[in-house]
Amino acid sequence: MGNEMVVTPRYWHHRGEAMLPGREKSLMIFGGIPGETAEVRLQHKGRNQDMSEWLRSRNPSESRVEPPCPKYAPCGGCPWMHLNEKGQEEAHRDLIKLALRDAGLEHLKLGAWHACPDGQADYRHVAKMGIERSDRDRVRLGAWARNSRRIVPIPHCNVVAPVLRKTMKSVAHHTIELDIFPYDAETGRGVLRTVVMRASRTMGKVVVVLVCGRNTALLRQLAEDIEHGVPEVSGVWLHLNETPGNSIYSRDEDSGQIRMMPLGGAAEIEETLNGVTYEIGPGDFFQTNPSVAEVLYQRVMDRMEPTERDTFVDLYCGVGGLALQAAKAGAGFVYGIEGIEGAIVRARSSARKNKLTAEFASGWVELLLPDLGKRLGGASPMIAVNPARRGLEEGVIKELIDLKPKRLAYISCNPRALARDLLALQEGGLKVVGDIELFDMFPNTPHVETLVILEDETSEDSGRRAPKRKAVKRGKARQG
Ligand SMILES: C[S@@+](CC[C@H](N)C(=O)[O-])C[C@H]1O[C@@H](n2cnc3c(N)ncnc32)[C@H](O)[C@@H]1O
Repeated sequence: MGNEMVVTPRYWHHRGEAMLPGREKSLMIFGGIPGETAEVRLQHKGRNQDMSEWLRSRNPSESRVEPPCPKYAPCGGCPWMHLNEKGQEEAHRDLIKLALRDAGLEHLKLGAWHACPDGQADYRHVAKMGIERSDRDRVRLGAWARNSRRIVPIPHCNVVAPVLRKTMKSVAHHTIELDIFPYDAETGRGVLRTVVMRASRTMGKVVVVLVCGRNTALLRQLAEDIEHGVPEVSGVWLHLNETPGNSIYSRDEDSGQIRMMPLGGAAEIEETLNGVTYEIGPGDFFQTNPSVAEVLYQRVMDRMEPTERDTFVDLYCGVGGLALQAAKAGAGFVYGIEGIEGAIVRARSSARKNKLTAEFASGWVELLLPDLGKRLGGASPMIAVNPARRGLEEGVIKELIDLKPKRLAYISCNPRALARDLLALQEGGLKVVGDIELFDMFPNTPHVETLVILEDETSEDSGRRAPKRKAVKRGKARQG
């Protein structure tokens, strides 16, 4: 057939397709594997890249497996489900090496691979569903399709925790029953945009956030129906977002905060990692895969080894993730910074509940870091950074270098942003020590969590005690 061809892709695209570079355009192959010769079908011609789909292999790779999910191809949420775990590990290593090589850092070594202790299925403790009207004018909820905003119903999603599977079915069922329609930002019609659900592995409870373009009385009914249908649902929240575009949450213009309104049930859920219990509110960031998060947090503590003489600073700390682990490990002074005010309220509350001593500030790292430098008064801190996918904000790298960290742990979910930032940190005098460790936080996807430790060789343990605790001021909001 005219749009079928035989190709041998050469490397991975960071979105998970196998890539065949060409003189004018490259070809992306969904379901392909570099080095494997395969028949593929052309699906879409683009300006710089064409898109194709794998049909059958001529020399099947040893890594190839039958994807365990029937929605593997239309959904596209798990583009590496056609690889066994060894194949996924190798693919991650290839992608990270590529990012390091592009930044001129090919000398950095990749070390241990930390597999997901719970295996490749049922690991996700956060799930998101979109909503649309189908071509037959029926409302349906599910995952966003590969390469489009269409919806693919996924009642048997293979990778979410079983309690989330149950919740997803219930939310979809009751939304359709109540005739709640998708919101259209252009016309202002309809109601529901996205549903975000988080399950606690420790408690078995679920919090649901209904992201809507507008509020209606039906939403309270929906919340009630969901809570009745799934007893594990402990709270349903409403977040209003009428802005155009695909961002799930909209932030308050002045404060930058994400507003939530209760529709029913309890405010928070809790999750316990390595003996520390964290409160998590609706809209807070918390690691998707708690079992791997435990391994990651433990590795950070093992490699940083904070003692009572050390100050441990956790930047982008969310609800207090690494800060509270460091306090438990015995760090002398612990300080966390996070942009979402509610997450900091939760971090402080968790510190009290766990009887741990840590100070937290809400505000943007790039604005608060200079003050922290003054506060530390020259003592070299241990610092952990775990920024969003885009990596460190402008100015943060210089501040980090100026702080002369005794040890800096960079935790990243984006190898390309990591490589860019590592280059700048190295140019500023910090040195990578040991190997880059890989954590399989998101099995079956090209996303991976990495841990790199850096040191400022000029910093000495000055012997200065950690600074005294003081009343925490409200953080500065980011301008613009
Ligand atoms: C990848 S998460 C890491 C959270 C935490 N370290 C953990 O393990 O749960 C990144 C966090 O950084 C926060 N964030 C993003 N940009 C920020 C900024 N410029 N200043 C402060 N916090 C920020 C997000 O709200 C989010 O909670």
